[in-house]
Amino acid sequence: MIPIARPCLGPEEERAVAEVMASGMLAAGPKVRAFEAAFARFCGLPGDAAVACSSGTSGLLVAVQSLGLPRGAKVLTTPFSFIATANCIMAWGLEPVFIDVDPETAMITAEGVEAALDADPSIRAVIPVHLYGQPCEIHQMVEVAHARGVLVIEDCAQAHGASENGVPVGSVGDLAVFSFYATKNMTTGEGGMITGRNDELLDRCRIIVDQGARVRYQHETLGFNYRMTSIAAAIGLCQLEKLPALNDHRRRNAATLTEGLRGIPWLRVPAERDGCVHVFHQYVVQTDHRPALQEHLANCGVSTAIHYPKVIPDQPFYAADGFATVDLPVARQLTQTVLALPVHPMVSTEGIATVIDAVRSFVP
Ligand SMILES: Cc1ncc(COP(=O)(O)O)c(C=O)c1O
Repeated sequence: MIPIARPCLGPEEERAVAEVMASGMLAAGPKVRAFEAAFARFCGLPGDAAVACSSGTSGLLVAVQSLGLPRGAKVLTTPFSFIATANCIMAWGLEPVFIDVDPETAMITAEGVEAALDADPSIRAVIPVHLYGQPCEIHQMVEVAHARGVLVIEDCAQAHGASENGVPVGSVGDLAVFSFYATKNMTTGEGGMITGRNDELLDRCRIIVDQGARVRYQHETLGFNYRMTSIAAAIGLCQLEKLPALNDHRRRNAATLTEGLRGIPWLRVPAERDGCVHVFHQYVVQTDHRPALQEHLANCGVSTAIHYPKVIPDQPFYAADGFATVDLPVARQLTQTVLALPVHPMVSTEGIATVIDAVRSFVP
């Protein structure tokens, strides 16, 4: 079976972990600081513009907390994402506002954000997601938001190394959050990184991840233990070095898939936005024949996945709060048609050919 995801780890990571274990410093230490600096620079930011944390979810929680919004304040976001994007809003007693997505990219657009902010000036922040590894219209969104005094947190959990107009994601918004979960373009097992342009907010994030204290036992704000371990940082430093090659491999696999699948009347292949570098965390096709195609591919030894089978407002926790009535025709339609095919760097050339043949042999 060709798996839908598989981490790409080697002897470099093994050696780095062994070194940390031998050093005796397992919790946060110089390795974590080095990883933060390297990651910030990778995003085109100064070396102190990144805060490592224990996961993408904790990073989002911290980022939203750092905004200091009052209970009940509204935060605009996408309904078509992993649940963590919206949960970090709910967690602080804030109100997520969901708008519909673009049918081609499955992401909220700058035009949609502008219309929503103008329709409801009480919205205080926006959290767009660079979905599947494709940058959203982040420059335009930040312009639209900042013109209205609204802050932006980029959810970069799926888009390490993606860029819009040559500018890396994670360096455009006030804050940005990456995930290093095992299936992501680079991994630390579990882990996350907060980056961004807003130094004051980043500074708050840095203390929140460490019990709200800059100095031991001087807790100046509400904080938690969301620190990254040195073991995770050591893996992260190796993975970051490999990331450009890993992303190139994903892009090559994606290009081969698109070439091989073009012209199938019942299948829509993913498009790269103009001026963008899509890093294909997921290669997602759209089809009205998803259940039968998925079964056929499984029979051909090809794993697939559905990201996402439900819009966030329809998840029981949100539906119980009345969100299921939000009108989201495009996003709800996408939940019925999207299908992710294997694209990760551990899929060989023959594997990609197998995927193409398997899709082409399907008769709807
Ligand atoms: C868009 C998005 N946001 C947030 C997260 C949460 O990251 P983590 O799993 O590291 O907590 C994920 C992870 O899958 C994600 O895909």
